[in-house]
This record gives sequence, structure tokens and C-alpha cells, in this order.
Amino acid sequence: MRIKNLHYLRSFRLTLIILSIFGLSLPVLSQQPVPYNSFKPGGEWLDNNGVHIDCHGGNIIYVDSLKTFFWYGEHRGEPRGASCYSSTDLYNWKKEGVVVEKGDIRIFERPKVVYDESARRYVMWFHYDGELDGRNYGIAEVGVAVSNKPTGPFVVQNHYRPNGHESRDIGMYIDPGTKKAYIGYAADHVNRTIRMVELSADYLSTTTNDVDIEAHCEGPGILKKNGTFYLLTSQCSGWTPNPGTYYTASAIMGPYTSQGSPFIGDVGNNSFNSQPCYIFKIPGYKDAYLYMGDRWNGGGHPESQYVFLPITITAEGKMEIHWHNEWDLSLFTPEARRPNR
Ligand code: GAL
Repeated sequence: MRIKNLHYLRSFRLTLIILSIFGLSLPVLSQQPVPYNSFKPGGEWLDNNGVHIDCHGGNIIYVDSLKTFFWYGEHRGEPRGASCYSSTDLYNWKKEGVVVEKGDIRIFERPKVVYDESARRYVMWFHYDGELDGRNYGIAEVGVAVSNKPTGPFVVQNHYRPNGHESRDIGMYIDPGTKKAYIGYAADHVNRTIRMVELSADYLSTTTNDVDIEAHCEGPGILKKNGTFYLLTSQCSGWTPNPGTYYTASAIMGPYTSQGSPFIGDVGNNSFNSQPCYIFKIPGYKDAYLYMGDRWNGGGHPESQYVFLPITITAEGKMEIHWHNEWDLSLFTPEARRPNR
């Protein structure tokens, strides 16, 4: 009898062990996403923990010494602020965390990071805003935060209106040759135009080289090819997508000429249901320009999606963005000398 009881006890324990292995670890295992090897614009995109990537309105940098891409953007879940994700292939992203919490800042949007190689410092510019005189988005300033590590923490240093101009959506361009950085900002009342301002050599402040480039309106992204600057913008319709426009110029400070929409076959006339936030030049490939757009779905939600698409500059110098349900970097031509990733 005792022997039988012992036998039951053993098999009960075994069942418990088996149950705890399968019961506890199966849901964990099922959260581990299969590695991605392509982009699916507007589709589900999970981080290394199997959680939706929460990184909106931001930019990507590549840090050569670390052989790593860092993606910064608005963390719209709690805590609010800017998040950072890292990757070695642009498809699979590891969450590095919230690198700056917005704290008392009412509105914290569109962070853009530039790496100062000589000072080994990461500088984040962002849209600093809140209510002023009863008007939401009335403060209209840029903010700047600094970190010694790509994964933060970034500490806010300052916020102000560049050269006295209202500033809302911002974009950033870093000249690969001169290493100078520029901020394109939706300026004045209310986002009447886009102004371009050059940053100081240490990227920590804006200079007085600040011009009205008479472009309209928000979400500016910039690329340069064959001496021509291409500026891509959205119109002003809040979280609702609208038809984008691109402009060209022979100098970063303009003058810019409007060229119409680059979104080819855009039946919804809404930039493939997205709003531009940045253009990332992917290292290691020839003319590999990545359109980074947000699919806000009518509001700045943590679960808002991403529309990443290749940008083509045609032989005639036109900017074109075509829709792909799924695509990968093999669309681009590798450069002879690729960074060793
Ligand atoms: C959009 C802008 C977003 C956010 C939103 C608020 O036009 O691009 O960054 O500010 O308005 O309504």
C-alpha cells in the first residue's frame, strides 16, 4: 500500500514538473518572434521580446564603431518619452528601453539623434510643446538632450524657439562629408512654412544660419543625391495622413522647388497611409535611401505602425516611392566596401 502511494506521489510530482515546463514556458516560447528577414510596411513588427515596437516619429543612426543601428522615436506607451531599439540588420530590433522620460514636458515628439564622433556624444533634438495662452501646441519649441551612450539616459539640456521662431515637427539632415547637421522645422504660425537651421559644430545648439525655405508643412525628411537635396514633407492634418510632397534644391538652405508627390500609385492619396518622419541612408549599399513613415491610424498610439519603403531617385532626378507588401535590402546594390557588420 505504502509502495503504491509512493508510486502515485512520484507520478504526481512528475506530472507537476511536466505541467510547469509546458504550462509556464510555452507562452514564453511562443512570444519569441521568428527572426525577420524582410520589411512588411504597415504590418506587425515585434521587438526581441515579442512586443510591438513603440518608437514613432524618430530616426535611425548607424554607429560604425559599434557596428549597430539605433532607432529612436516617441515612446507613446508608459513611461512617455523617447525609446531606443538596436539592431545589426534593420529587421530585428532589441528594445534598449526608454532613454529619456518626458516627465513634466506636456508634449514630447519627433526625437532625432545625431552622434558626435569626436566627442563620443549622442545629441537628441525633439519637438518640445504644450499649452500656451489656452492654445495646445502653443509653446512650439525645440528641445535638446544629451547622452554619452547610445542607449541613454539622455538628459534634457535646453528648450527654446530657434531664433525666435515657433517650431513644431522637426526633421534632421547630417551631411556625410562636412558632418554638419541641420534641422528642418515646421515653423511659425501655424506651421506656415518650413525653416532650415544649421546646428553648431558640437550639435548642442542652433546657429543663426536659419532660413525660411518656403516649403510646406510637416514631417520633413531630407536626402542628398548627385548634389541635389530632396526634402520630403507631409501636409498639416494632424494624425490623419495626407498626400506628401517633395522639393528639390541645389543647396541645403534652398531655394527649394515643389515637385509634387513621390508616392507612385498612391490610390488613397495619403502617402500610402503614412506620414514621413526621416530618410535614412543605409550604409553599405549604393543609393539606399530608406523612407521612414508612421501609420498613426488617427492618433499617436503606442500601437501605431510603421511604413518603411525604399526611395528611388530616377535617372531624371525624380524621387519615387513605390509600395511593396514585403521587401528586403537585396533591392539595393551592395557597395564594394561594406561596413563589417
Ligand atoms: C501631426 C504631427 C505629429 C503630431 C500631430 C498632433 O501633424 O506631424 O507629430 O504633432 O500632428 O496632432
